[in-house]
Amino acid sequence: MVTIKIDGKEFEVDETKNLIDAVREVGEDIPYFCYHPALKVVGMCRMCLIEIEGVPKLQAACNTPVKAGLSIITKSARVKEAREGTMEFLLANHPLDCPVCDKAGECDLQDNAFSSGKGVSRFELKKRDVPQEEIGENLLINHNRCIICFRCVRFEEEKVGQSNLGLFERGYHSLIGLAGDSLISHNYQGALSDICPTGALLNKKTLFKSRVWWYKTAKTVCHGCSTGCNVEANVRDNKMYRYMARENREQGMFFLCDTGRFDVDWMNENRLQSYMENGNKTESSSVFSSLIPKIKNKGKIAILGGAHESNENLNIILTEIKKWSNTVTTEARVHDSQYNETKQVDFLLTEDRHPNTKGAVEAGFISTSKASGIVTEFNKGSIDVLFIIKESIPEGLDLSKGTVVVLETNLTDSAKKAGFAVPIKTFSEQVGSFTNKNGIKQNFEMAMNPILGLPSSGDFFKRLNLEMAKKKEEALVGNR
Ligand code: SF4
Ligand code: SF4
Ligand code: FES
Repeated sequence: MVTIKIDGKEFEVDETKNLIDAVREVGEDIPYFCYHPALKVVGMCRMCLIEIEGVPKLQAACNTPVKAGLSIITKSARVKEAREGTMEFLLANHPLDCPVCDKAGECDLQDNAFSSGKGVSRFELKKRDVPQEEIGENLLINHNRCIICFRCVRFEEEKVGQSNLGLFERGYHSLIGLAGDSLISHNYQGALSDICPTGALLNKKTLFKSRVWWYKTAKTVCHGCSTGCNVEANVRDNKMYRYMARENREQGMFFLCDTGRFDVDWMNENRLQSYMENGNKTESSSVFSSLIPKIKNKGKIAILGGAHESNENLNIILTEIKKWSNTVTTEARVHDSQYNETKQVDFLLTEDRHPNTKGAVEAGFISTSKASGIVTEFNKGSIDVLFIIKESIPEGLDLSKGTVVVLETNLTDSAKKAGFAVPIKTFSEQVGSFTNKNGIKQNFEMAMNPILGLPSSGDFFKRLNLEMAKKKEEALVGNR
């Protein structure tokens, strides 16, 4: 840490930072567009100009590393005039079509115009009008809104490892466009739209779906793989509309891949809402009354899956099954990717598409027989009841050899095929935590209200034990 002066006051700041981040950490603000904490600095937009004592010209804060003894001025008339000039220049050709722009409400251009702009323009000529273009399978560019900050080009080069985009022509004619003939098809088209500081890059999947101020927001974690990217979940009318990246500088998390970002419809559609027996709707009481004798006869029980469940649910399940006198085998790893060291598919996405394999393994959802061994044993008829938690029924499992109970959030084929299906809450309808591939336990908030009466996976095992503990005559009364 070193001491620098910011607007006349002394602060201790980290000398590895640039001035934008150092100033931000002490609670002040320097406006910027092209700077991004996870990308290389280019100093293209000139929005972050500040005064440095002893240096005659204004300097770009993004491009100036912290140095002991530095004295900077972020609030002088010169700085204000420079910011107003930059904003006026950037807005000269901007269509100012915020009312029809998807970015409105979370747009850096709007925010900086409001905080640092002049509020008026002297530009009276006809604005540039370039037609919108499709540049990716899920990506549009509205050239008129682009401020040539180069974030998209740098993100592709530095993070995705592809260079589909480039800057073409000069000055007034400058355009961000495709460098080749084919559309962008990589797993980070959502991230491109996310890091664009204006509404120039737009995802087709979320286009015109909602104004951003109508969302209720929850801090959560992506369910899509073992990386556990931090997410801001946007919910409206109790429907999950979108995932946005939630910056977590300590963990170096700034982005989301499309695999996780756009996999949200399952939380809204095709939900399993009632208990089922052999593919038909039934009462919970009927499921409990069938299961209880099977557990009470001390036969062998197995639980497969659980790596989609929170650490809290897994711990409840373990506590509840310890109350049984049966032999219970638990195994959360149902795919090869869960047994191996985490393999990356690209810079974020991993092969293990479970958010909590590590948490489940640490909790003890592992067995010597592994998932394949459980299937073999079940087919031999030596497992009485097999609980499958939010996984497909394994291939080759002979359903006639025992009782299969699928705990599911959705009406899947497995839920229809199983002897019994139990509807459970999604993780987004609960609070809890997942442990990611690096062993970091990350909490998530409840983003959506659960369907009335739906248990979590942990609640189901709790309730099973409560029903078992009840006296015969009062058991199974009052169930749905
Ligand atoms: S499209 Fe967006 S991210 Fe790319 S240069 Fe233009 S404003 Fe920047
Ligand atoms: S990398 Fe994994 S955790 Fe991150 S957004 Fe993609 S699917 Fe979700
Ligand atoms: S943020 Fe410094 S020049 Fe763009």
